[in-house]
Amino acid sequence: MSLLNRYKFSLLPILASVFMHAQSTYDAKIDALLAKMTLEEKIGQMNQYNGFYDATGPAPQGGNAALKYEHLKKGWVGSMLNVHGVGEVRKLQELVVNESRLGIPLLFGFDVIHGYKTLAPIPLAEAASWDLEAIRQSASIAATEAAAVGLNWTFAPMIDISRDARWGRVMEGAGEDPYLGAKIAIARIQGFQGNDLSAPNTIAATAKHFAAYGFAEAGKEYNTTEVGTNTLYNFVLPPFEAAVSANVSSVMNGFNLLNGVPVTASSFLQRDILKGKWNFNGFVISDWSSIGELVPHGYAKDLKEAAELGAEAGSDMDMESKAYIQHLKSLVEEGKVDEEIINEAVRRILKVKFELGLFDDPYRYCNLEREKELLYNKAHQQGVLDMAKKSIVLLKNQGKLLPLQKDQKNILVIGDLADDKNSPLGSWRLASDNDTAVSVLEGLDQYTKDYKFVQGPKYFNDDTDFLYHVKINSDDRSGMEEAIEAAKSAETIVLVVGEHGFMSGEGRSRTTIGLPGLQHELIRKIHAVNKNIILVMMNGRPLTIPWEAENLPAIIEAWQLGSQTGNAIAQVLFGDYNPSGKLPMTFPRSVGQIPIYYNHYSTARAKEEPIVFWTHYTDEKNEPLFPFGFGLSYANFAYSDVQIDAAKPENIKVSVVVTNTSDVAGEEVVQLYLNDPVSRIVRPVKELKGFEKITLGPKESKKVSFSLTHKELGYYNQDYRWVVEPGSFHLMIGSNSQEGVHASFILE
Ligand code: BGC
Repeated sequence: MSLLNRYKFSLLPILASVFMHAQSTYDAKIDALLAKMTLEEKIGQMNQYNGFYDATGPAPQGGNAALKYEHLKKGWVGSMLNVHGVGEVRKLQELVVNESRLGIPLLFGFDVIHGYKTLAPIPLAEAASWDLEAIRQSASIAATEAAAVGLNWTFAPMIDISRDARWGRVMEGAGEDPYLGAKIAIARIQGFQGNDLSAPNTIAATAKHFAAYGFAEAGKEYNTTEVGTNTLYNFVLPPFEAAVSANVSSVMNGFNLLNGVPVTASSFLQRDILKGKWNFNGFVISDWSSIGELVPHGYAKDLKEAAELGAEAGSDMDMESKAYIQHLKSLVEEGKVDEEIINEAVRRILKVKFELGLFDDPYRYCNLEREKELLYNKAHQQGVLDMAKKSIVLLKNQGKLLPLQKDQKNILVIGDLADDKNSPLGSWRLASDNDTAVSVLEGLDQYTKDYKFVQGPKYFNDDTDFLYHVKINSDDRSGMEEAIEAAKSAETIVLVVGEHGFMSGEGRSRTTIGLPGLQHELIRKIHAVNKNIILVMMNGRPLTIPWEAENLPAIIEAWQLGSQTGNAIAQVLFGDYNPSGKLPMTFPRSVGQIPIYYNHYSTARAKEEPIVFWTHYTDEKNEPLFPFGFGLSYANFAYSDVQIDAAKPENIKVSVVVTNTSDVAGEEVVQLYLNDPVSRIVRPVKELKGFEKITLGPKESKKVSFSLTHKELGYYNQDYRWVVEPGSFHLMIGSNSQEGVHASFILE
């Protein structure tokens, strides 16, 4: 069925977006090239293959690899993924440039998620910094290393909003909030892409996964999503709209059904919204085989129909399903797919190739000198250390157990993860070398030799990697007794626990999100003999640790911090860095509270009653364990003197005074939350609409100002139109989503 037939009456406006092609400075060049291309060559641009390992050797002798090799030579491949390293990339680029008829250079895509070799913290951890410039820098370091090994395109940032910590991919995103998520999306895209895509240290970015993948039902990987228009428009889509405004080069769709339609085949998302309403002028890449997966989803009857539906819906490039390369030509010849759809997709892809400068020099990212010089470069290590420190969140510090004195004696470190150099690298690090993180022990070594390390029970069995589940040790208690014995006489205990780095990421959903294996038991047994415990947690998602939060005096959330993990943690432990991170995702008390998020709606029965008919659980509190935006410092901050000037409704000025009441300097993330108490589409109890990270010396005060424009005051209605409703608004400014000073104003 052709697109024209399918949408003849109801969706005519869509056609405008199909045939309207993105304006760019390269239009004339693109037109000229397109005019020379055969249909097969055009479809080839829409085809992306995964690398084959013998690419650099003699031509592959058989199977898939041989076919891919042949297609490359014919110019039937627009991009390769998972081919990296100057040698490999150059070899394939030469093959295509020298042997294919038109010599159109390839895009080389790779999942550079939080670094290439030098690893920054996992993205969720970076989000905890609320430091947009540091996040931009971190993405720029990743781009510099990636571009030095021949890559010109990353499949990052992931900007899926998620409210479900069971879903393993929350480690890849920026958490639950669309406002923070949109800001971070822009920072990451700017870091990857810079101001000039053709520069040798920038690469094209990908906003993924379009859309709503983070709402997988029950947090189960690849699961269905059912998301209503209000949530879609106001929570799921804003980071994507921001990404488009930041000129992201590509957008990746996803594996999920959204309201019954696979997003990969969603014309509504890809044509109406992305390319239509937002005027996105980059291209859409499918997720891995997601066009082929239209068949097992029960949406297309076979691969050919999947190709038809994917192309019509605006998926411009097919990642590894081979649907386009096998079927689009006959679909066009049979009149089922309009050739204009192909032309439009190819234009978009060629535009990015021109912008990357590949037509001027296809080998511009293939410089052996740069490859040698830049990987694991010292400045990059310094950069990711800075990012790592800023990502740490201090969750509890009773009795000022922290920071440790520099000459502190008799420290006992317990926990298998404390001397682990691999797990702290986190998930999604396809090119990094194993065991390259600075361990916690190595970090401590920079400060003192006066500590003892006892491993405690083994955390996991066997080797770990990206493809398989971590095998957690849940029954071998050897090492437990030794740890308890050592704990009896220690002054201070640093207990390092968490999730293994490969317990989060793709394919890693969990139904329980407590500390895995024997760790909880270990903590309780140690606590029974010595209460001076500093818990250092390394995890890729919020964890349920109600007992620890209640009973232990000090807790540091250290996520998985990448290459410089141990150094960052040691600097926080000894007070050389005063923690400043704030949670980008709510920590539930128990799994049963999920989805739990701060920007929820009120019910009509939110007030506590003596009888049961109010919104609550029989067996659990409503409150989270740690709320969104929460994080302590070694300093203390007080908020006062909120001033509001609402004279100009299009620009309401708000200010607050923040005072550091302590004797140490510290950083604070000043957060502004808004609530519109009466609205035609009911608004959440509060929504983050501004934040600023400030540094305050001891006893210093600063006035922090915000502007509230229609962008902050409005919302999308059911028709996806931006609406600002006059009337009263409440605001809260404070150090997390639950505490702050309150004020109100009237919007005329
Ligand atoms: C993931 C994408 C990733 C792609 C390529 C898929 O399984 O969902 O996020 O970019 O693989 O590695």
